[in-house]
Amino acid sequence: MTDMIKMRLDTDRYLIKTENCQGHEIVCREYLAVPYVENPTAPDHQCLNIYVPVAVDGIDVNAEGVPIVFQNKISGYRSYSVTTEQRRTPRKTRFETPVAFPRIGPGEGIPGRMANAGALQFTPLLERCVLVIPGNRGKDNLMGGKWFGKAPAPIIDLKAAIRFLRFNKDRIPGDTEHIISVGSSAGGGMSALLGASGNDPEYEPYLDSVGAAKERDDVFAAVCISPIQDLEHQDMAYEWQYGRLPVHLPEGGVLPPVDREISSSLSELFEEYLNGLGLELRGGYGIFTPENYKEYHYREFIKPSAERWLRSQDKETVRVYLEDRPWIHWDGAEADFDFADYERYLGRIKRLVPFDTFEFSNAENTLFGSEDEPAAHFTEFSIRHCMGDSADISELVKAQRRLINPFTKLREGTGRVAQHWWIRNGAKECGAAVPLLHILDSQLQQKGIEANFRFAWDKGHCAEDDRPEMMQWIRKITGQVNSCS
Ligand code: DHB
Repeated sequence: MTDMIKMRLDTDRYLIKTENCQGHEIVCREYLAVPYVENPTAPDHQCLNIYVPVAVDGIDVNAEGVPIVFQNKISGYRSYSVTTEQRRTPRKTRFETPVAFPRIGPGEGIPGRMANAGALQFTPLLERCVLVIPGNRGKDNLMGGKWFGKAPAPIIDLKAAIRFLRFNKDRIPGDTEHIISVGSSAGGGMSALLGASGNDPEYEPYLDSVGAAKERDDVFAAVCISPIQDLEHQDMAYEWQYGRLPVHLPEGGVLPPVDREISSSLSELFEEYLNGLGLELRGGYGIFTPENYKEYHYREFIKPSAERWLRSQDKETVRVYLEDRPWIHWDGAEADFDFADYERYLGRIKRLVPFDTFEFSNAENTLFGSEDEPAAHFTEFSIRHCMGDSADISELVKAQRRLINPFTKLREGTGRVAQHWWIRNGAKECGAAVPLLHILDSQLQQKGIEANFRFAWDKGHCAEDDRPEMMQWIRKITGQVNSCS
């Protein structure tokens, strides 16, 4: 048991800095590179930044009791360090080939996320929230020939950082009962996991080993932008959704041909999985089945997404836009299109198999593994395809995938679940399986939690088109009435 003294935030050790955000000037107190565990194995990564707004555009801000936005920077399950402010540029490890993401406009898809990350980073301060940016260990951490950031290290560090905030609740002006976890893509999956597994005892030994504070690690709300989650079912769900669709790669990109037999086998496994879940959909659609997915997804999410976007544009923009997309019928109030046309426009961008690749070339393979193994298979399907029918996932990897999967936690109910969820995705997502987002939403519904869930029209992975609304939502769920900018 650690004495925790080291973990006390030194409230005098801050810098006063001015940050610019969307044309506004924010003066804030910045606590930089604060260690959040007693026994760090990666001191540069296991530390966080805290930003406390002092004034916005010359008007003083009282940050006592405001929400704390806890914004993880995890991308591709890699480590992040606030000491070097690593940029979220897509890097690859020895075992990965770069994933091709089509560039479809500013702020859209993965490249846009990178470009936007800096501009949006300080939005919470503008909205009078405390902002916390944690560093974390990740799959790329290697020292003395040993890997030390494989699963579940990233989630252990995020939980330890939350515990650190609670440990210092009297020294930080924000309200630690109103911690809003935010993340996108792999970081969105981690945000969902924080939201699904508060105080879950299964993480305790790992938290003890890094010397995390003996505090709660549940969060009040989880913001999940294109969360990549339920990794053991991503391949199946991806092939079920995109298996028969055309390949849409940026110019110059090539994918190996999709093996129809493998794709269909995975797709069938997804149907089995979905049917076994017996989850209820929203709005009277009944149990979520392979048969009602398209109608549900179209009527409740995709059509409204298109309509919101079309309504928000001027007539000329809409005219030009629709000229290129004759499959969309728009009468000025309602949009209508065939789901098959929408699917063709989506296409697939990931190779077969997309996640647990046979040659360890995707981001997820290198999340798994051990100190000595840089990558591992994490699905029975892939390991058996590569190593024969009697091959099995190691006990270590089985434990890793449990600890990293919010669905396991939601299903087993061993953790405290955040009562507020914001789920966003691009309606032109083709890098991850969308049905899994509906499974997340339905699991939450089953627990009586109504997620705020929608799709940004014509945008890809990690797209959001309504961050101001998200901030309003944070004010609403935390009972803050102060409105600004
Ligand atoms: C991320 C993207 C991926 O395509 C993936 O498989 C895992 C993670 C990411 O950007 O975080």
